[in-house]
Amino acid sequence: MQQRMPRRLSRHRSPWTLQRRLVLTVVGLLALVSLTIGVVSVVILRASLLDRLDVQLASAVDRSGVALGGVGDNDGDRSGDLPGSRYFGTPTADSILSGPAQPPGLLALVYDKATITTGYTDDRSGVIEALTTQQVRLLADHVNQLAPVTVDLGGELGDYRVQVETSRSGTLYLVGLPLTGVAATAAQLAVIIGLVSLAGLVVVAVIAAWVVRLALRPLQRMTATATRVAQLPLDRGEVSLDDRVPAGDTDPRTEVGRVGSALNRMLDHVNRALEARQASERKVRQFVADASHELRTPLASIRGYSELTRRSGQELPPDAMHALGRIESESVRMTGIVEDLLLLARLDEGRELDMQPVDLTMLLVDAVSDAHAAGRDHVWNLDLPDEPLKAIGDEPRLRQVIANLLANARVHTNAGTTVLVALDEHDERAVISVTDDGPGIPEELSVTLFERFARGDSSRFRAANAAGAPSTGSTGLGLAIVAAVVAAHHGEVTVDSRPGQTTFRVSLPMA
Ligand SMILES: Nc1ncnc2c1ncn2[C@@H]1O[C@H](COP(=O)(O)OP(=O)(O)O)[C@@H](O)[C@H]1O
Ligand SMILES: [Mg+2]
Repeated sequence: MQQRMPRRLSRHRSPWTLQRRLVLTVVGLLALVSLTIGVVSVVILRASLLDRLDVQLASAVDRSGVALGGVGDNDGDRSGDLPGSRYFGTPTADSILSGPAQPPGLLALVYDKATITTGYTDDRSGVIEALTTQQVRLLADHVNQLAPVTVDLGGELGDYRVQVETSRSGTLYLVGLPLTGVAATAAQLAVIIGLVSLAGLVVVAVIAAWVVRLALRPLQRMTATATRVAQLPLDRGEVSLDDRVPAGDTDPRTEVGRVGSALNRMLDHVNRALEARQASERKVRQFVADASHELRTPLASIRGYSELTRRSGQELPPDAMHALGRIESESVRMTGIVEDLLLLARLDEGRELDMQPVDLTMLLVDAVSDAHAAGRDHVWNLDLPDEPLKAIGDEPRLRQVIANLLANARVHTNAGTTVLVALDEHDERAVISVTDDGPGIPEELSVTLFERFARGDSSRFRAANAAGAPSTGSTGLGLAIVAAVVAAHHGEVTVDSRPGQTTFRVSLPMA
């Protein structure tokens, strides 16, 4: 486990982009090919230069043999004909080196009657210099060889190609040619190939980066399309998914084009699903709106007739009077629910509100005095700024928002609860807050508080209603309407509740 962790981390630290990987692969392969070509060329060149040097060496050996032979007894006549072979004593290295047409840098060693003479012509000055004992010993190690060999003489001389031969007069001699030329030419070729390869690699890297970026650009456009789509709020409301990958990037004959066309097909598919969802939502909304609208008239009739009967002046048994009173109050409650549902359905449709500057100060004064009249057991406080504050909004709807919040502070708290309604200005926004010191909002409601039909302790109210007690008016639609109206005003509603303090805050754009 401990060993696996760092490896995983390092693998995820800096992922290589496709572009980087492609460019580095191309450059790496090209470098490998260039290196192989360079090494093979240098080796071949060296071998062929060595062959040529061996040919030169062979002719130097021949000439040297002639030079030495010229001093021998068996070929006395020809010695006079040879210019340069002016040595008429014992055969020495000098007689080879000062021979005709000998190349610069030539090295010679002559072993004659237990005497060794050595020497080489310095390539620059042309002066004949002697070899050191150490170098002679190195050469002596190769004396028995018949084919040309390479000997490292060290110091200024470096590598030499040497060959041993016996002259016609029986003298053993060794002739050598410097390898410096071969080495220099090979090194020069290596440097040239290296430089040209390097320049080629740079050019190829630049071109490859450019080509790869060009080839990957459609992917970037697809990413942009996908990102834009991902930011759309597809889960709610009416949204149209029109964004598509540009037609140029959807050619199915290319790999990238196939990705593009697959993405477009997927977007088409999502769009169709979205349209189906929106259509069914529209249908449900329309149904709710129609149903609530249709229910209004019969409800008004029920209310009207029961009221009429109750006030007809006829003597009715007390039970019948009670039942009529219940019919009336329940039809009022149902009318309220139906109105709320209709309002929610219209807000869902996104119907335009009648936006105008609304004096929030006046609105709060009215709302609090209404609440005071309805809830005499509560303590109502109002905290207003010195200057009147105006917001942009639909006045009846805003009245409803405040009324709902104040009704909650009255209905869901015990008698004697203090409610503070305050108005403030904050960041160019009007902020209305309603605070009570009641028991607080039940914990299980915190998530669904602003959803439709979300209400706390419903069983208690239902039980009370079933027993025929006066209705509490709890429907769970109040805060849903608050949220929907505030959202339609581009405002915001927040809640902060704990036992002993519950605060609803509504912020609205100022006029
Ligand atoms: N000020 C408050 N104090 C305690 N509970 C509250 C308060 N306001 C709202 N609630 C809780 O939130 C629920 C939802 O409120 P609302 O949407 O207005 O529905 P309703 O008032 O019809 O029950 C209420 O049933 C109640 O349990
Ligand atoms: Mg309510």
